[in-house]
Amino acid sequence: MKKIILAIETSCDETALSLIECSGGLKNPQCKVLKSVITSQIKIHQPFGGVVPNLAKREHIKNLPLLLDELLDSKFEILNSCDYIAVTAGPGLEPALWAGITFAKELGKKYKKPVLGANHLEGHLYSFLLPKKNRISNSKFSISKTFPAIALLVSGGHTILLRMDSLTKIKKLGETKDDAVGEAFDKVARLLELPYPGGPEIEKLAAKGKRDSIPFPRPMIHSKDYDFSFSGLKTSVLYYLRDHKKISKADVAASFEEAAVEVLAKKTLRAADEFGAQSILLSGGVAANKYLRKRLQLEARKSGRNFFVPDFEHNTDNASMIGVAAYINMLKKKKYPLVARGDANL
Ligand code: KG4
Ligand code: ZN
Repeated sequence: MKKIILAIETSCDETALSLIECSGGLKNPQCKVLKSVITSQIKIHQPFGGVVPNLAKREHIKNLPLLLDELLDSKFEILNSCDYIAVTAGPGLEPALWAGITFAKELGKKYKKPVLGANHLEGHLYSFLLPKKNRISNSKFSISKTFPAIALLVSGGHTILLRMDSLTKIKKLGETKDDAVGEAFDKVARLLELPYPGGPEIEKLAAKGKRDSIPFPRPMIHSKDYDFSFSGLKTSVLYYLRDHKKISKADVAASFEEAAVEVLAKKTLRAADEFGAQSILLSGGVAANKYLRKRLQLEARKSGRNFFVPDFEHNTDNASMIGVAAYINMLKKKKYPLVARGDANL
């Protein structure tokens, strides 16, 4: 049975809405995006060098009705044919999350639709289920070609390595002990006086630099566990900049990117070997990094594995992935309370 879901994402600095259509069970879920809209608050937060929670909340409250109007082309009656409203309940910035939850609840009441809470991290994790226009994955997605899989989830707040035996059997293998890798990109960008968010800026600059010019450390690359640490790497960049007067920013960016990507790729591949993974899944905002995508794709191919990564628009925060997570949870009969939980985990 087809289900139409209006999905809402306001966990950080993107206000996003999406109308998706999902069908199929846990063995063969199919989701397609009917329409999605997004507005970024980057310009508003840029002068502060990061996201200001209450400013984000104010902007979400202002943007949500405008985006809904745009999503539906002012035809609000479309909401009558929706089956569910899905909204991110956490993790994220609590004031920002509340803006989305309150909006979802009001719509649910007005149109008499059930409201489903969704976990933002599950959204990233399941984003590989969204159909792809640009496929850099080396095979067409199907459940039978995917599991067991090793999933690397890399965003501004999280760096998690997971083992997935199915869409429902998921085990966390390790995570960062300090900064998330996206946070490290953002902090190093700030050290190099690049604007927020730093990830895409570092990537652009790194493309012009020499990756082997500065031997930055590869924290925890040889540790037996699957945890990560990125704050020492950021500190090494800080010391390098303090101790060297003449530097090439492009070389610093390239050497930093190389160090971060090497740790991520090595540990992901080691987990894939240990657990006999058939595929590697990459998701989260940092999955938009072309060097990381290429590196994992290559390693997966070399070791005879499939590699799945969502389209660029579905790496960074978006509402379609929230709709998918809500659909999978509905199939699993898992419920999230409609309460903002800033520190919600997987
Ligand atoms: O998933 P996301 O949009 O938000 C969170 O859930 O955190 O991830 C945002 C993070 C930021 O740290 C941003 O700098 C990073 O993803 N990012 C990138 C790239 N694009 C976004 N990092 C490296 N390279 C990129 N191209
Ligand atoms: Zn995210």
